This record gives sequence, C-alpha cells and structure tokens, in this order.
Amino acid sequence: MPEGRKKRPYQKKTGYRRPAGRPAPGRQPARKGWDPVAAWYDQLVGKHGSDYHQHVVLPAAMRLLGDIHGKRVLDLCCGQGVLVPLLLDSGAASVVGVDASPRLIESAKTRFQSDPRVEMTVADACVPGDWADGSFDLAASLMAVHDVPDLPGKCRNVAAALKPGGRFVAIFMHPCFRIPRQTHWGWDEGRKLQYRRIDRYGVDLEIPIQTHPGKGGGETTAFYHRPLAEVLNAFGESGLAITGTEELYSHRRSQAGGSRSKGEHRAAREFPMFLAIAVVRLH
Ligand SMILES: C[S@@+](CC[C@H](N)C(=O)[O-])C[C@H]1O[C@@H](n2cnc3c(N)ncnc32)[C@H](O)[C@@H]1O
Repeated sequence: MPEGRKKRPYQKKTGYRRPAGRPAPGRQPARKGWDPVAAWYDQLVGKHGSDYHQHVVLPAAMRLLGDIHGKRVLDLCCGQGVLVPLLLDSGAASVVGVDASPRLIESAKTRFQSDPRVEMTVADACVPGDWADGSFDLAASLMAVHDVPDLPGKCRNVAAALKPGGRFVAIFMHPCFRIPRQTHWGWDEGRKLQYRRIDRYGVDLEIPIQTHPGKGGGETTAFYHRPLAEVLNAFGESGLAITGTEELYSHRRSQAGGSRSKGEHRAAREFPMFLAIAVVRLH
C-alpha cells in the first residue's frame, strides 16, 4: 500500500457482474433498499438538498427541464422529495413522486401533505405500475440511475409514463470517472498534476456502499456501475432520444493551498462528477 494511505474497511469485494447490455431479469430492488438508511438520508438532504444538490444537481435539473409551468411532472426515485419544492415554485400543475422506500415516501408526504398538487407513491421504478400511465409532460430522476438494478426496465417505465414528446432528465454519478472504490485521485509529482485513476470501467458492477461510515449501523445500499454505452443504450432502446447532455463538475475546491493547489483545482475543473442527460419520448 502506498505510503500515507490508510487501509479502509472494505465491506465486500465488488461482486456482481453480468454481460454489458443485458437487463437483469426479475431482479428485485437492492437488498433492503433505502429504508434502513432513510432517516440518515432525510437528514443529510434536508429541505434544501445536500451541498451537491444545492450547488450542482438541482440547478442543472431545473436548467435541463426547461419550462415547467402548467406541466404534470414525475419525480422518479424521488427520495424524500428534494426536487419537489423547486418544481412547485416553477409552476408545475402537479407532481407525482415515486420511490421504492416507504420511509422516504413517508418523509416526503409529511413535507408536502398539505399541497393538493403533490402525490407520493411507493413503487419500484423498474417494474411497470399504475404510475407509468402516459400522462406526464416531464419526468426527472436525480442520483438514481446507478441505484436501480434494472436500468432498461426503469427506462421503459419512464417512456411509458411520458406523453409522446414528453421530456425526461436524469442526473447521476459520471460513469467514466466516478465509480465507488474503483476511481481515485492521484498525484503525479513529476508533472505536478492531479490525475484520476480508473481501476475498472467496462463491466457491470454491483458495489455495496456504506452510507454513513463511522456512525455505526453498517447499513449498505447498492451502487450499480454500468459503462456509458450501456446507460445510453438503455435510454435509446426505450424510445427515448437524447436532446442534451451536460457534464457537471464539483463546485468544491481544495482549501489546503500549497504546491499542489493549482493541480488540484485544475483536476476539479476538468474531471466531471455527474452526467446529466435530457431525452424526449419519440412516439
Ligand atoms: C441517492 S437517492 C436519490 C433520491 C433523490 N432523487 C435525491 O436526489 O435526493 C436514490 C433513491 O433511489 C431510490 N430507489 C432505489 N432503487 C429504486 C427502485 N428500484 N425503484 C424506486 N426507487 C428506487 C431509493 O429509495 C432512493 O430514494
């Protein structure tokens, strides 16, 4: 192990792998899903979103969704509903939140129960359901492409939920640069630059994530890495055509100063953290 690097507790070696492009038939939502970590996630995200939500993810989602006024909007894998107030403030006619975690939906209901424009439903995004009824003008799914075990299934349901011509925006960890446990920062002393090291990429991986390390409990959720082409094909095969993408960079900058700061700042500006994709339902 390189000097100065602490050995971190490692839950389990990355386990699950299946051939690229293949859906995972009949797979259920990851293990116990997000219910065991719902209280922690609700507190982390709060009313206004985490740091990344506020500075990067939510502004990009609103930018890509475009005109929301008078629209019926689906928030798929909505969690505790961080996007909902922004949709309402932008004049959405109605918002339906769908999430597999009953506890997160309960938090969302507590927050929005007095608003007749909001409806919250517990459902698996990958399984056809009443909510995927072709009635939506717009849909969004934030930080949840890598949370579902069956992305083609989720995309088919997005297409089924939208009206023809309806638009969908997904924002998620950039699959080329952000793979938990498989991508890291490194420092090249000779060239005085910070580089991004990618240990694995071109395979499907199911990576257990310890959601709040150090705080006890040891609950995990699953992160499903897929190579970029597989993600894009899942949209395309569902009749969702890409109309725009943005690669989103962290707003955070190292405050440490010193000889590395120029290299670190450049890396933060040039290696994206999230990928945002806007698609339209063709027919
Ligand atoms: C990282 S959280 C993002 C939540 C919310 N969109 C946000 O930005 O705060 C991932 C969410 O996906 C939900 N999720 C995971 N698998 C799901 C599935 N198969 N169907 C519906 N929701 C699912 C989880 O319950 C969790 O709320």
